[in-house]
Amino acid sequence: RPYIVIMAGGIGSRFWPYSRRKKPKQFLDILGTGRSLLQMTYDRFRAIAEKDQFFVITYRKYVSLVKEQLPELEDHQILSEPNRKNTATCIAYAGYKIHSIDPEATMIVTPADHLILQEVKFLKTIEKAVKAAQIDHRLVTLGIKPNRPETGYGYIQYHEGKGEDARKVKTFTEKPNLKLAKTFIESGDFVWNSGMFVWKGSSIIHALREHMQDISEIFDEGIEAFGTEKEDDFVSKAYLQVKNISIDFGLMEKSSDVYVILGDFGWSDLGSWTSLHEIREKDKQNNVVEANAILYNTENSFISTNSDKLVVVEGLKNYLVNETDNVLLICPLDGEKKFRDFVSNARKKG
Ligand code: GDD
Ligand code: MG
Repeated sequence: RPYIVIMAGGIGSRFWPYSRRKKPKQFLDILGTGRSLLQMTYDRFRAIAEKDQFFVITYRKYVSLVKEQLPELEDHQILSEPNRKNTATCIAYAGYKIHSIDPEATMIVTPADHLILQEVKFLKTIEKAVKAAQIDHRLVTLGIKPNRPETGYGYIQYHEGKGEDARKVKTFTEKPNLKLAKTFIESGDFVWNSGMFVWKGSSIIHALREHMQDISEIFDEGIEAFGTEKEDDFVSKAYLQVKNISIDFGLMEKSSDVYVILGDFGWSDLGSWTSLHEIREKDKQNNVVEANAILYNTENSFISTNSDKLVVVEGLKNYLVNETDNVLLICPLDGEKKFRDFVSNARKKG
């Protein structure tokens, strides 16, 4: 019986202004299905897991949102992080927690904000990954066939399998620059890291001790506290000391225990307006229109408002128009490189 750990503490800044600090994209019904991305992630795994096998780990300010959206979960299944310290710390916390319940238990770590179109194929891939993770201290990730030199992903090169589902990973490169990403794509030798991981509690702790001692030493000190009433106090102290780093840079690039299972299940990380545009229904000119709009000579754009104001557009190509209660953003559809600036400058303006 594997545990499902849903990571739901990110900010989703590339979806600004739709995704905001107060309510990041994992809590939004971004696809218009009536369920948020977090709820869709829960539903997807609920097909293979009971309610009590779930943990959601999130920043403390979002705990009430998680409770509201997943009322099935009990309080102890929501792990509250006192600070934002990125995925390595988040995974360490969940790993030590699950290890305290049963060191040999397997955990499936998943982001809360991905789209998966073919659930049956997905769950079959997960099943293979769970099986592969039983051997030694394997760290298993799911790999996706790439179709563009996206720089926001991890790239995995692997050894050809000997009839085994799990292939040993040769190299893992997190977020390469565009030039390197293009080389990877042209070589045909790489898959994207999906950001979903499967391993035993004992394996992740073993790997942290080997490659991220700065984290493991801090958590090892309180290893007895997990699962007791001392956990919250210990975690508050530990989080003040750990550095902010992702699991990909901190561990996956370094470990020689990484294996990849190739998957093809209609995956999108919905990481940007471009990726959302890719999967949404479009008009004949390839526009996503989520507004009361009249468009002229407009192509490949994303027009979205949350009011019924009439939007009239002439001559836009590859553009995003997104209106929320207090921000109207107009920028190139693939402009997310600048989003960090937009967000911090907008915050200064108030
Ligand atoms: N609880 C918690 N705490 N969750 C977090 C934190 C944190 O501090 N930081 C991020 N998350 C959650 C996000 O909400 C998201 O669901 C997931 O962890 C991954 O974080 P992202 O910030 O979205 O990572 P990324 O998209 O840049 O990169 C990762 O995913 C790519 C695929 O989508 C990497 O694993 C890449 O290698 C991978 O290709
Ligand atoms: Mg992401």
